[in-house]
Amino acid sequence: MKVAVYRKEHFNAAHRLYNQAWDDAKNQEVFGLCNNPNFHGHNYELVIRVCGEIDPDTGYVIDMKYLSQVVKEKVLKRFDHKNLNLDTQEFKHLNPTAENIAVVIWDLLRKELREDLDLKIYLYETERNYVEYPVQ
Ligand code: NI
Repeated sequence: MKVAVYRKEHFNAAHRLYNQAWDDAKNQEVFGLCNNPNFHGHNYELVIRVCGEIDPDTGYVIDMKYLSQVVKEKVLKRFDHKNLNLDTQEFKHLNPTAENIAVVIWDLLRKELREDLDLKIYLYETERNYVEYPVQ
């Protein structure tokens, strides 16, 4: 009997979308406002979904205190109140789109969870734009 549990978190961060292989005109054409050379910020809403069997001893799929702690240590400390392009190793050479941020967060959290637990990330860049990773 599998159950999915969800943890919602929040962080804000600045970024600039930019492809180093393109000239300024092409970057402006593709990324528009998100290409602002002086960066801009987003209030990211992060939803972490962990799916697995209920442990008969605890009644939990995962201890939410543990999950919360791991997200704080591995994700929020890394990205909250940071400039993703300038302040983080992960996005020095990776365009910090919501898609790429979701994949990076999944990679960071995946190694902290038991293998039998299924992990999925939803990342809201705005109220109306959000991404899901992985996709079935
Ligand atoms: Ni943006």
